[in-house]
Amino acid sequence: MSLEKEFEKFIAAYPAYATTEKLDTLRASDYSRLDRLGHVYLDYTGGGLYAESQIAKHQQLLQNNVFGNPHSSNPTSMAASALVDSARAYVLEFFNADPVEYELIFTPNASGALKLVGESYPFNEQSRYTLAFDNHNSVNGLREFAHARGAEVTYIPVNLPELRLPEELLRNTLKEANPEGNNLFSFPAQSNFSGIQHPLSWIEEAKALGWDVLLDAAAFVPTNKLDLSRIAPDFVVLSFYKIFGYPTFLCA
Ligand SMILES: Cc1ncc(COP(=O)(O)O)c(C=O)c1O
Repeated sequence: MSLEKEFEKFIAAYPAYATTEKLDTLRASDYSRLDRLGHVYLDYTGGGLYAESQIAKHQQLLQNNVFGNPHSSNPTSMAASALVDSARAYVLEFFNADPVEYELIFTPNASGALKLVGESYPFNEQSRYTLAFDNHNSVNGLREFAHARGAEVTYIPVNLPELRLPEELLRNTLKEANPEGNNLFSFPAQSNFSGIQHPLSWIEEAKALGWDVLLDAAAFVPTNKLDLSRIAPDFVVLSFYKIFGYPTFLCA
């Protein structure tokens, strides 16, 4: 029997298989290099794969325009500024982030975005910095900015074997915000180390108890919708190349 006939029989026996046909089409049109080079790509928190159409569109954009250094009033410079402005507006729209509430800052990586928060957050001797044990190392790095300015640093450990944060301990710690100081609480929407997704409701709870909240959404947004009209962390870090792979060194 021919392969086509076998396939028809297979689809008749397993009709659900046909519902993912779009993925096969996409794989053939935009990711054919996977099959051509014999790859199965499973890592989906460290680096998303770019689509071939993305590369083609970017090449067309560069070939059909002249972009100068932004921030000047000559036509090529203004074209570059307009492109950056529209990208910034589109990203805010994609995450349902009100431009009155949120400012989007492009950074070379998520660690660079976290460094901006660490450098600018007004830690002082009355401050508390509370963070989840399963944060990425670059979130741990903020602890040094906190220590350097005399803030108290508290880690919330993870429970074994579930690798979740003990909620009672978390709530008790959040009750300890110092009303005299600036208090920062940081956790990953999805841990890059365990894959665990934490409740985003912690954001409102922590804010109500006097904390500013830093949400590391870098591993979450490649496969989940982040809706900043429903949750309102004070700072969000995310990585575009973890979402769509190209260009590298583009985060916010
Ligand atoms: C949750 C999370 N936060 C931060 C980072 C750091 O990202 P970058 O390599 O862009 O600095 C990563 C990278 O894997 C991550 O998964």
